[in-house]
Amino acid sequence: MFYEPDKNDHGLQYAPFKSCVVPRPIAWISTVSRQGVVNLAPFSQCNILGWDPPYVMFSANTHFDGRRKDSVANAEETGAFVFNMATWALRDAVVLTSHIMESGVDEMAAAGLTPAPCRLVAPPRVKESPIAFECRYYQTMVVPCDTPGSFNSLVVGRVIGVHIADDVIEPSGKIDILKVRPLARMGYLDYTSVTDIVELRPEGIPERMVIGMSGGKPSDKR
Ligand SMILES: Cc1cc2nc3c(=O)[nH]c(=O)nc-3n(C[C@H](O)[C@H](O)[C@H](O)COP(=O)(O)O)c2cc1C
Repeated sequence: MFYEPDKNDHGLQYAPFKSCVVPRPIAWISTVSRQGVVNLAPFSQCNILGWDPPYVMFSANTHFDGRRKDSVANAEETGAFVFNMATWALRDAVVLTSHIMESGVDEMAAAGLTPAPCRLVAPPRVKESPIAFECRYYQTMVVPCDTPGSFNSLVVGRVIGVHIADDVIEPSGKIDILKVRPLARMGYLDYTSVTDIVELRPEGIPERMVIGMSGGKPSDKR
């Protein structure tokens, strides 16, 4: 089949677009408002942007009334956010924190989660999440929406601190991703999680490229 999103002529019961790029990681963004209220919300339009130095992004549309979502407003107004990893074990809290709550409500507390202090930025991270990036806000790219008065904010932050729970680091020096079990967004109301891994080692490319891809050191010949 072929359809044009501008015409929305897919003819299917459910819009297929969000199912065509899956699975998507979920950035669980914690911020604080200028008034000091903690905010937490999940965003599956997210990813890393680079690693030299590391940057991350998340993208949020506006509320129905055209207001920026609190995560965007807080990151822009305070200059910081935390990119916590959503995991299978935390899936119910992840969904709960997507509910629209008043800006004055501490969403981390409302979801029964524990705020852990960050070292370099003001917002707390989610203690229960095994991996969290402390991010310094870099800039926002505004992408227009068709809906009048709405827009997408693509928020970019530079990762200036990385927390990894000690108990998910293997003796090999790799993160035990099967133990972490990241949660990922599919289309519709569907989710998945990482439950298996396969290593595919490229042949015939320069060793320094293999090292770049694997994150290993030059001595790593395995
Ligand atoms: C798993 C999941 C992923 C989501 N991803 C996005 C997203 O990428 N962009 C977006 O605008 N909203 C997304 N949402 C909805 C936001 O989490 C929701 O609008 C939330 O209330 C925003 O909170 P805030 O105003 O406190 O920032 C997602 C919700 C869930 C459950």
